[in-house]
Formats: sequence, C-alpha cells, structure tokens
Amino acid sequence: MDPERPPVRYPVGRPVLGEEEAEAARRVVASGWLSQGPEVEAFEADLASILGVPPPRVVAVSSGTAALHLALAALGVGPGDEVILPSLTFRATSDAVRQAGATPVHAEIASPLDPTLDPAEVGRLATRRTRAVIAVHYAGYPCPMAELVAATRPRGLALVEDAAHAPGARLDGAALGTLGEAGCLSFYANKNLTCGEGGAVVMRGEAAAERARRLRSHGATSTAWDRATGRLEASPPVGAGFNYRLSEVHAAIGRVQSRRLAGFNERRARIDALYRERLARPGGIELPFPEPRGLPAYHLRPVLLPPWAHRGRVRSRLREEGIETAVHFSPLHGPEVPLPRTEAYALRELSLPLHPALADEDVEVICEALEGAIRESTDVRGNVQA
Ligand SMILES: Cc1ncc(COP(=O)(O)O)c(C=O)c1O
Repeated sequence: MDPERPPVRYPVGRPVLGEEEAEAARRVVASGWLSQGPEVEAFEADLASILGVPPPRVVAVSSGTAALHLALAALGVGPGDEVILPSLTFRATSDAVRQAGATPVHAEIASPLDPTLDPAEVGRLATRRTRAVIAVHYAGYPCPMAELVAATRPRGLALVEDAAHAPGARLDGAALGTLGEAGCLSFYANKNLTCGEGGAVVMRGEAAAERARRLRSHGATSTAWDRATGRLEASPPVGAGFNYRLSEVHAAIGRVQSRRLAGFNERRARIDALYRERLARPGGIELPFPEPRGLPAYHLRPVLLPPWAHRGRVRSRLREEGIETAVHFSPLHGPEVPLPRTEAYALRELSLPLHPALADEDVEVICEALEGAIRESTDVRGNVQA
C-alpha cells in the first residue's frame, strides 16, 4: 500500500458478509463434500424462487462470464454468427461472444439519461448472420424489454439478458433475467448477491436449460454427487462441454446471501434516493435514469459530471479524501464504428460509492466532496478519459 495515500473510507462497492455466511462455509468444509452437490442444487432452487421460475431452468456456474458463454452455447450461437450488444458494458459481455466463436457487434445506448441498449439498433445492425442480442441491465436498471422483444422476435433472434447488475430487479411483474431466452447473473464480490465468484444462467426453455446443465460439466448427464449418492449411474457424455461448475462452499455462501438480497436491495434503493435528492441541487451534475422502468436493483449510482469538469482531477481529489469512484465503462467499440452517444456518456460518467453498508450520513459527505472536487477541477477545460 502507498503510505502517502489515505486509506479508502468509502469504497465504490463492498460485500456485506457476516457470521451466517462464515457458518455456511464451515458447515460445507466439515461435510467433506466440496465440489458441486446438494448446496449447489439448493442454491439453484433459492434462485429459482427469487426469479419465479421452476428450479430446473436455473443452472449455477462459476462466474457471470461463464453464465454468458454457457447461455450462448446452449442457444447454439457459434462461429460465423454475429451478436449485437451495447458497447457500454463490461468486457465480459463481449468476451463471452468471442468465446462462443461468434463476432460481437457493438451498439448504441438510447440516451445519456437512459444508457441502456437502444432497441432501434437491432434493426440498424442486424444482418443475415445475426443470431442473438444481449441486453445489459446497466447499473441494475431494466432495459426496455418489451421493445427489445418486439425488435428481436420477428427476426428470429435470441434475446439474452446480461443481468449481472440486476438480481432482484423486476419489470412488468417479472424478474429481470426471465424476460429473454436466457438470463445471466454474476455473484462476483462487488455484486448485489455475492459468493466471491459465481454466476447463474436462467433459460426460458426446458431443453435449453438441460443443454446448459450438461455443457456446464463436460457434456456429462450425471454429476459426481448423483453417482456418489446412487441417484444416477455414470453414462457417456453427450458431446463436449466446459467445466463451469460452482463449488459447494460458494453455493452455501450464496444461499445465505440470497435470503438477504431483498433487504440489501431495499437499503441500496434508500441510499440511491438520498443521492438523487442531494444531487438535484443545481451544479451541472446529471443523474441517469430519472424515471427508471420497473424496480431497479440499484447496483451502481452513475452520475454525469458537468461537461467542463476534469474527471481525472475530480477522481484524484476524491481519492485523497478516501472516496473511491469508478468509471462504468470504457466503451468496447473501436474507432472504425463511431457510437457518439456512448462516447459522450462514457466521457462524463462517474460511479459513486453505493452498497448496503453505507450510512445515510455518508451520502452528504460524498456529495459535498464531489461538488468541491468539481469546482476545483474547473481551471482546466475539456475532459479526459480516466
Ligand atoms: C455487465 C457485466 N456482465 C458480466 C460480468 C461478468 O461477471 P463475472 O465477473 O462474475 O464473470 C460483469 C462483471 O462485473 C458485468 O459487470
């Protein structure tokens, strides 16, 4: 650690873990069965109940990236295919397309205040090779799913939801992740529900879910737990697959966190409301998602800095005060395909601390520091990529 640098007092995100999670992990270690088994099955059932789908449609995996790749593979996306996705996402979304052997085609967001995939992009970018569209519920805010379904279904394209930021979020009476052909969740350490590393895929079709389940573990039709308990005999694998299994320790922690998710999301909503109220004062800061669709999961609190602010300086100044910030995201598209709305958004975006362990008073400290840092940064005009 740099001795000159003050410690981070306000991290952007932080897992909230306690004795219950520790006890769950201890119980699994004491059981002697660490690889995919009864805890993973129970975790899948817990997730299915949160999502409101039958348990066989949920397949727990080792990461959100694995979930995305598995979903695409189970839907038959492969070499020669194109997949449309927003440029404004974490690189895992497009990595998964490449892992499937397909080509990512990067698309625009709707607007700076609605930085989710613009449904009109499907018509603009679809070609004979397009097989799927990935909608990213950026920051935990629902995409316009009805419009995306209307843009994809008549063209025969599979709609996949990257719901890494959105466990527990809802739209039109259904959980995000259940509105497309497949939904993908991440349980990485900074996510709303965490087990350190992990993920899950939710498939709309039973057959596709069964394919995903087999592909998760080398194409096998039975698990080591099935064989150890005599539930199923070993049989030859059906084609090749991956090793995307989740461990029992991770699943046990995930089960505790799944019981706490609704409370976590409520706390996130409260902090976010405080940010909105506080940052409504004039000062040039804009807040995306002024009128969110449905019920968001409030994973991130993105703000748009005034165009005259110098983001690099704002971030350094805040860091000196122990306030961590992040940029979500550096766009994934190259210079050959300009996406001006995405570029303009990404230049001004800054994510403020948001997690259930923040106290109400912390919001005032962070907002005051932010306003001061913006004022100080205005002696230099123009903006830079952080
Ligand atoms: C939008 C998005 N998709 C996918 C992922 C990948 O999840 P994981 O880190 O669990 O592989 C992330 C992770 O941060 C993400 O932000």
